[in-house]
Amino acid sequence: MKTFLKWFGIVMGILVGFLVIAMLALYGMGKARLNKKYEIPVQMVEISKDAESLAEGKRIFQYRGCEACHGEYLQGLVYLDNPAIGQVITPNLTKGKGGIGAQRTDEDLIRAIRHGIRSDGTPLLFMPSTEFYFLSDGDLGKVLAHIRSMPPVDNEIQPSQLSTTGFIVMNISRTISFLPAELIPHDQTPPPAPEPGITPEYGEYLSLSCMVCHGQTLSGGKIPGFPEEWPSAPNLTSGAGSRLPGWGEEGFIKIIRTGENHGRKINPGYMPWTSYRHMSDDELRAVYAYLMSLPPMDFGNR
Ligand code: HEC
Ligand code: HEC
Repeated sequence: MKTFLKWFGIVMGILVGFLVIAMLALYGMGKARLNKKYEIPVQMVEISKDAESLAEGKRIFQYRGCEACHGEYLQGLVYLDNPAIGQVITPNLTKGKGGIGAQRTDEDLIRAIRHGIRSDGTPLLFMPSTEFYFLSDGDLGKVLAHIRSMPPVDNEIQPSQLSTTGFIVMNISRTISFLPAELIPHDQTPPPAPEPGITPEYGEYLSLSCMVCHGQTLSGGKIPGFPEEWPSAPNLTSGAGSRLPGWGEEGFIKIIRTGENHGRKINPGYMPWTSYRHMSDDELRAVYAYLMSLPPMDFGNR
């Protein structure tokens, strides 16, 4: 018995030792990924500050979801607060106290938005630049004009900080990408954005964020990496079980505008219609045209 206990102890000791080494290695890898410096050649865009461009910039900031994550006054919000991952906080983008607006050049802002890279060259956490990489120069210029036009807000917030386990989780998780910058082909010029119009092509340009939840093929299903209690994302193609063809264009627009899905309010915490409702009728028509142009898929064929 004694020798058994002795050997058991030794084996357990070795296993725990391996585990600790593996954890330390993963932690170190996470640190290295977060501290990696990227050198990004930034292409400047024209920033028009006329009233029409500013109003458009605000609308784009809203329907692209920037406002939901950065706050109505660009004051910064707690995006994620989970001991297993850490605290991820969007910065105060204004020139007020605690804001980074005064320190950042336009070039810095473009680097952050299109490439997901901070002004010191390190990657931003969870900032969805994989989508914004595709923004047209015109749209990006208007968004910058909107950011620059906002009055200063005093809001001194802590910078984002991963927890010890957060550095480990970022290397294990296959479904969530902590550092979108790692997925962007920084040295390639993004393809030219399609001309605005009620076309499936322009609808696709407006729908880049839908795939995160509704899947690459937009056929819906359980959303990977999101909490268990979340509802599945419905099928947005015209395949079996999809409600979209029956709604028609006007029905679709109404649902995105009001979040009212036949007597049931869609929870904007799950489906961010409060951002998308800022699209114009023609933009939503383009989105609908795009969805109806997709190959019909069965539900959940992500
Ligand atoms: C899903 C949430 C989310 C959305 C949508 C989003 N952001 Fe961010 N953004 C973040 C987070 C989180 C950070 C900070 C990351 C960090 O601290 O590492 C950030 C950082 C930034 C920064 C970096 C500031 C700096 O230099 O440190 C800028 C600029 C920015 N976002 C602009 C935008 C704009 C413009 C849009 C819309 C086109 C947008 N964001 C959409 C989450 C988001
Ligand atoms: C953050 C995840 C998320 C994103 C991003 C998202 N959706 Fe959704 N969407 C959902 C979920 C979850 C539901 C189901 C909500 C419910 O049943 O309460 C849903 C429901 C819908 C519905 C109702 C469908 C039905 O059959 O009832 C439509 C339409 C829709 N989404 C369109 C879109 C479009 C278009 C985009 C992109 C412009 C988009 N969604 C982006 C998560 C998302």
